[in-house]
Amino acid sequence: SGSHNRHRHIILIGLMGCGKTTVGRELSKLRGTPFLDTDFVIEEQLGRNIADIFSDEGEDYFRKLETTLLRYLVQEKTDASYIISTGGGIVIRPENRTLLRQLGYNVWLNVDVPVLIQRTARANNRPLLHNVDPAERLKTLFATRRPMYEETAHDQFDTSALELHEVARMINQGA
Ligand code: S3P
Repeated sequence: SGSHNRHRHIILIGLMGCGKTTVGRELSKLRGTPFLDTDFVIEEQLGRNIADIFSDEGEDYFRKLETTLLRYLVQEKTDASYIISTGGGIVIRPENRTLLRQLGYNVWLNVDVPVLIQRTARANNRPLLHNVDPAERLKTLFATRRPMYEETAHDQFDTSALELHEVARMINQGA
């Protein structure tokens, strides 16, 4: 589609566990373009992991770091086209949704909540799932964020019933 702009990065958005990192790495291989994970960039910049940043500085601080990174990427002068995997909550701030649209082609990896529950069961690096019932939390996050992903996305794929390399292949064809 012609609605995305000069940067033409491909950005993957969606809840934790939807497959952004796996699909992003695969896409990066298919297209031979750099892969960038916003969580990872922030962790590298601060020299701390996400869980520590959340517990020491709070979620709002982390959200502002996401905004700062998006602003940087929007103004960055580069001919490169990145594959960008994002933290699940990057769409919460309205400013971030605008920045994401300026950055390129946004693909929402939608996925059924039961599948999300399975995929996130192993990970312990997700502060939003600490000390809560993960299933209940994921249901709430899905309901709250769904309209935000819909507003930001140029395209969407339901990854519940698909192999993630298949999803990467389809995005590669459409982008
Ligand atoms: C978050 C998702 C995480 C990470 C942080 C907050 C969220 O990223 O940014 O723990 O608010 O959904 P992933 O979606 O890569 O797990």
